[in-house]
Amino acid sequence: MRKSSQKIVCIGAGYVGGPTMAVIADRCPDLQVTVLDVNLERIKAWNSDALPVLEPGLDQVVARARRRNLRFIPQAEGASYLAEADLIFISVQTPTKTTGRGAGKASDLKYVEAAARLIAQYAQGNVVVVEKSTMPVRAADRIKEILKQSKSRAKFDVLSNPEFLAEGTAIQDLEHPDRVLIGGENARAIDKLVQVYRRWVSKEKIITTSLWSAELAKLAANAFLAQRVSSINAMSALCEKTEADVEEVAQVIGLDSRIGPKFLKASVGFGGSCFKKDLLSLVYLCEHHGLPEVAAYWEQVYHLNEWQKQRFMQAVARHARRGTVAVLGLAFKKNTNDFRESAALDVCRGLLQSGFKVQVYDPAVDFERFADFLGRPVRLVHASTVPEALVGAKAVAVLTEWDEFKQLPWAKWRRLLARTAVIFDGRSILNQQALAKVGLEVRTLGRTRPL
Ligand code: UDX
Ligand code: ADP
Repeated sequence: MRKSSQKIVCIGAGYVGGPTMAVIADRCPDLQVTVLDVNLERIKAWNSDALPVLEPGLDQVVARARRRNLRFIPQAEGASYLAEADLIFISVQTPTKTTGRGAGKASDLKYVEAAARLIAQYAQGNVVVVEKSTMPVRAADRIKEILKQSKSRAKFDVLSNPEFLAEGTAIQDLEHPDRVLIGGENARAIDKLVQVYRRWVSKEKIITTSLWSAELAKLAANAFLAQRVSSINAMSALCEKTEADVEEVAQVIGLDSRIGPKFLKASVGFGGSCFKKDLLSLVYLCEHHGLPEVAAYWEQVYHLNEWQKQRFMQAVARHARRGTVAVLGLAFKKNTNDFRESAALDVCRGLLQSGFKVQVYDPAVDFERFADFLGRPVRLVHASTVPEALVGAKAVAVLTEWDEFKQLPWAKWRRLLARTAVIFDGRSILNQQALAKVGLEVRTLGRTRPL
């Protein structure tokens, strides 16, 4: 089949595939970009004004590109698009395996494998297959094997081009990346993808490596970031015992130019779809390759995070004593509607299991989905405003750093809370002195007496 202007197809229209393809289409008006997904509801949402992913700036990018060279199509209708594609991105989920070898740690490649089979079935000519999802190192072997074993007459090259965007800042990260990483074996295939990014990313920022370095570098980068959060969270517990202030400690550490100031914010634990999954995947890989000490090192980063969430939840429970708890923030960070692995899931689950009534408010997370995820417990109550969540609460847990939580009219709302109510600030965003003036005690992770 003859190919005219370059055509890109992306399999998976999730938090990574959707925004990434929108920015590629926006920056490369001459390329045709088609995003496929098996989830019809998601495709419908991408084609509407209510996008399935909340990201500052995303609406405008999608609106511009959708009119021109970006389309979202159900996967079942995708055969002809795959047949014409020059570059096919795989951007499907790689969750932790729940059964079989490596269950609980290894990444499940079944969605990646299904995508590879789909490509093998429909792709034609010379096709570059790009791993966009975070994969365990050597996952490309599995994709290559599936493509090779198929009856396809197409010629495939596989590249690893992991995405480093963070949710909540995805558009900024995609438009001005620190680096773009492309790993591969064939220089021509690598160059084909380099030319796409070169439309808006400078040459020095495009790093090309071997396939295996690219796959491992992404896992390693996430593990290093998670490690920084666990390191400062470990310090937060010691600060509470010693009357040191974790914000002051972090400031001092971060002023060392070898360390730098970012990712040193103590919190009620990191969440999101990547850190936990990628740490566990790394742990499994180390165990698999006979490196138990290395595995144990990285596993502790994960354990510390689980412990931080639990100790925060228990502190709230100790204070609230079977009463009502208000939870402010369900998203795993601000400016996203994503609650995957969020601290709110663990904190709410723990409190509900201990018999508390939990009134939750979040400006962006879909409550019904959150409640479904927890099995629809009857004591989990949706509040559509902050004051609604506060009514009768003996404890307030601030779990997401949404800007709107930073300046709440506590003087006005104080009377809604139980007389002995205490606020547990898991994000260090509240002004303790100001709240003390209206008679409210705030306990902040790493900044006040032991939680
Ligand atoms: C992360 C990586 O940053 C990104 O490069 C990769 O592509 C995907 O995984 P993401 O999970 O979207 O991105 O968000 P990130 O900003 O990394 O935050 C992860 C979690 O760590 C959040 O829950 C956040 O609140 C928490 N965090 C982050 C802290 O608790 N303290 C910090 O200092 C930084
Ligand atoms: P991420 O955060 O990595 O983007 P998501 O779960 O948000 O992960 O998105 C992955 C998307 O991939 C989902 O919308 C899912 O329906 C889609 N998907 C998974 N397997 C396939 C497949 N074989 N074909 C098309 N879409 C797929």
